[in-house]
Amino acid sequence: MYIGIDLGTTGVKVILVDKDGNVINSVTENYELLTPKPLWTEQNPEIWYNSTLEALKNCIRGYEERIKALSFSGQMHGLVILDKDDRVIRPAILWNDQRTIVETNEINNSITVEKLILETGNIALTGFTAPKILWVKNNEFKNFKNIRKIMLPKDYLVYKLTNKFVTDVTDISGSLLFNVENKIYSQTILDFLGINIKQLPKVLESNEVIGFIDKTILEELNIKNDVKVIVGGGDQAIGAIGTGTVNDGDINISLGTSGVVFVASDKYSVDKKSFIHSFAHANNKYHLMGVTLAAAGSFKWWKESFLPNKSYNEIFDDLVKTDIDDSIYYLPYISGERSPINNPLAKGTFCGFTSIHKIENFSRAVIEGVVYSLRHCYEVIKGLNGHSNQIRITGGGSKNDHWCQMVADIFNIEVQKPRVTEGSSLGAAIMAMVGDGLYKNVTDACRDIVKVEKEFIPNEKNVLIYQKKYACYLQLYENIKPFFT
Ligand code: XUL
Repeated sequence: MYIGIDLGTTGVKVILVDKDGNVINSVTENYELLTPKPLWTEQNPEIWYNSTLEALKNCIRGYEERIKALSFSGQMHGLVILDKDDRVIRPAILWNDQRTIVETNEINNSITVEKLILETGNIALTGFTAPKILWVKNNEFKNFKNIRKIMLPKDYLVYKLTNKFVTDVTDISGSLLFNVENKIYSQTILDFLGINIKQLPKVLESNEVIGFIDKTILEELNIKNDVKVIVGGGDQAIGAIGTGTVNDGDINISLGTSGVVFVASDKYSVDKKSFIHSFAHANNKYHLMGVTLAAAGSFKWWKESFLPNKSYNEIFDDLVKTDIDDSIYYLPYISGERSPINNPLAKGTFCGFTSIHKIENFSRAVIEGVVYSLRHCYEVIKGLNGHSNQIRITGGGSKNDHWCQMVADIFNIEVQKPRVTEGSSLGAAIMAMVGDGLYKNVTDACRDIVKVEKEFIPNEKNVLIYQKKYACYLQLYENIKPFFT
């Protein structure tokens, strides 16, 4: 049996699957997102580790003797720093933290956008890891001087479980420390930040075996045999494996806390303006990706703030009381925005309501606004790569069929929902199987394991209405932009 661990933003999910990819057990341990200041987001890596061990123990109970290998999917870009005694120096600064506007500008202006794209395939964005390192240097110099190891969130789990200081090509692509095309660290960026390669983890392909779980941890987990550890990768690449997004042009949409449009690519390519990320994929190739920071995160904020007594499904059911032609628009920029507008100062916005509108009309606007934002990312990617005429969908939001249908209608592309909607944890389990040699490569594994359960065909009438509304959504941001300073 195989284990997939998905280290997310709201919790860690551990799944146990058999060799055919059937999910035998699934356990989630939730943890808090710390916001010590507006637009700052942090988490304590030790809480990730303790929660992972707890979830692992509960997930494998009764199956301890049958576990062969495990692998990871992790929230990307977070900065974890350790001192000479391997102690965590400060809480991790996460992917959706926006504190690094000054540092991001400093990197983009000093190195220049052109050189950055040549060196790394990307430019500095507030969410990426390099600006966070510079922020620590500029604001917490004592902490900066104490750094012996720099790693990404899932790499911390790997280090604790195996004692191996490693990362993988997909996750490190989002650090801006890495030359994505050639898959080596960029000395230019390291020199600029004042760090050296010894402080950074060794980079592996995502299906590479790191070693085995440390003996003392095996005892704690009540496991008698060795368990192989495969490095895995960033949650978007591994989530794409979990939906079978592996062939050139395959599209995956994730409706997680963040919303992502991911297009697999056999060849390396870049967006010259860098509105879209160019990263390595977990199948030894590449991908292009646009990220909406608050997707299901917008919906969670909306529900918790204004409809705490309704379930998510009830909120969706209430949409029947609304009209698809409704005039309210929502810009989902409650955490600033990454792709494709790259504006950390953008804010969430409602526009166009009248005295007849009820709370469900606003719910509709939130759910729609997230999908317009994803379509906006997709329009940029489309110009860079060929693409298929189906979308695979994953993430918590994809559990709801209304949202899947809305994606099909707003994109005017058929949407396929796999049997397992938690692509990232399944993807991690697939990486474990491939690393263990059960499959020759991820493509073969995905073909056998990922099964489509439901298809959503675009509804022509809705497509036309959404087409017009999407144009208004784009205009709204352009017009309101001057307010976001
Ligand atoms: C990807 C990104 C997010 C996080 C969320 O670039 O920032 O999807 O990985 O977990």
